[in-house]
Amino acid sequence: MKHIVITGGAGFIGSHVVRLFVTKYPDYRIINLDALTYAGNLENLADIEKYPNYFFEKANILDIAALENIFEKHRITDVIHLAAESHVDRSIVSPLDFVYTNVIGTVNLLNVARKHWAQDLSKHLFYHVSTDEVYGALGNTGLFTESTPYHPNSPYSASKASSDHFVRAYAETYDMQTVISNCSNNYGPYHFPEKLIPLFINNIIQKKSLPVYGDGLYTRDWLYVKDHASAIDLVFHKGKPDETYNIGGFNEWKNIDLIKLMCSLMDEKLGRAPGENEKLITYVKDRPGHDRRYAIDASKINTELGWKPSATFEEGLSETIDWYLQNTEWLQHVTSGAYQNYYTSMYSNR
Ligand code: NAD
Ligand code: DAU
Repeated sequence: MKHIVITGGAGFIGSHVVRLFVTKYPDYRIINLDALTYAGNLENLADIEKYPNYFFEKANILDIAALENIFEKHRITDVIHLAAESHVDRSIVSPLDFVYTNVIGTVNLLNVARKHWAQDLSKHLFYHVSTDEVYGALGNTGLFTESTPYHPNSPYSASKASSDHFVRAYAETYDMQTVISNCSNNYGPYHFPEKLIPLFINNIIQKKSLPVYGDGLYTRDWLYVKDHASAIDLVFHKGKPDETYNIGGFNEWKNIDLIKLMCSLMDEKLGRAPGENEKLITYVKDRPGHDRRYAIDASKINTELGWKPSATFEEGLSETIDWYLQNTEWLQHVTSGAYQNYYTSMYSNR
């Protein structure tokens, strides 16, 4: 019987992973451990909160005593670790927050897991969810593979790279069973509107300007969040211990092309004249250290575990926009209060 703690389960990707595991594996106990920072929201899980195999623990991964209690109380057998500070722009303003949660928080979890599983480490898995940003930036060609050297360029990616190294080091040094996956940009429902796609959907709804960083020719590889959750399910159950798996959408878009696609889809969905939303596009000061291009070679997870994305980008993006248009209450809740201060401080000087 598995008792899995999923950290960061109230966040964007974490909530999709929690939902998948709670509904697909009724015999597992799923413990969502989350500090409920600005990015964590229990409304993301309202539909499954009454399931008998779902438990929520409000805790910070910097609080070792709280982690000990949760491992003890729920007799945790496995960890899927997603809790993190996740926004690059915030990491440029407050790098230390990223060091605390992403580096020290991860080491705390590793220590507590190792202590609780000491009798037989081989029966337990520590799954660390990471990002393609650890590999740095690509030029016009090439893809990140699992053996691409780490070259993080932002405080966020440096903190994630560091946490990846600690996980690997604990596998080597203490014989813990670990697995790491490094994924490209996710999009979908429950995405906090500080990241490109949900921020621009929200701004288009409100007819606010769309702040495109730099020349807008930066490239990202977009994956529907439910496909990331299904990849995490596969890696958790079938991945080889101590391996890394890259996960990506085989779906590269230059920011400006993606933004224009969103504008035209939303012209149609909102009954606006063709071209109306594009008028909101405003080029603003670039992000410092902005990585030019990310693109993942996901052939290892494809050939070894048989995973591939199920949603096409056009379907996924259209469904995502519809979700935001139908969930205005959720959007209002997450954009009230502190969000307004965030938006002003991040965008007023650009
Ligand atoms: P998110 O910011 O939406 O959610 C993070 C969650 O972690 C929130 O619920 C928050 O409350 C919680 N949290 C933050 N600090 C915590 C702490 N100290 N203790 C306990 N909980 C804490 O993030 P996301 O976009 O869902 O990303 C989840 C994970 O996936 C992260 O590790 C991120 O690096 C990784 N990742 C994200 C993407 C992406 O495109 N969003 C892509 C690849 C990898
Ligand atoms: O690649 C995986 C990573 O993707 C994850 O590890 C991160 O947690 C996640 O936030 C995401 O990082 P990015 O920096 O790529 O995502 P973001 O949505 O912030 O930006 C996407 C692109 O859009 C990037 O080139 C910057 C640009 N951008 C972003 C914002 C918020 C703009 O042009 N304007 C904006 O207002």
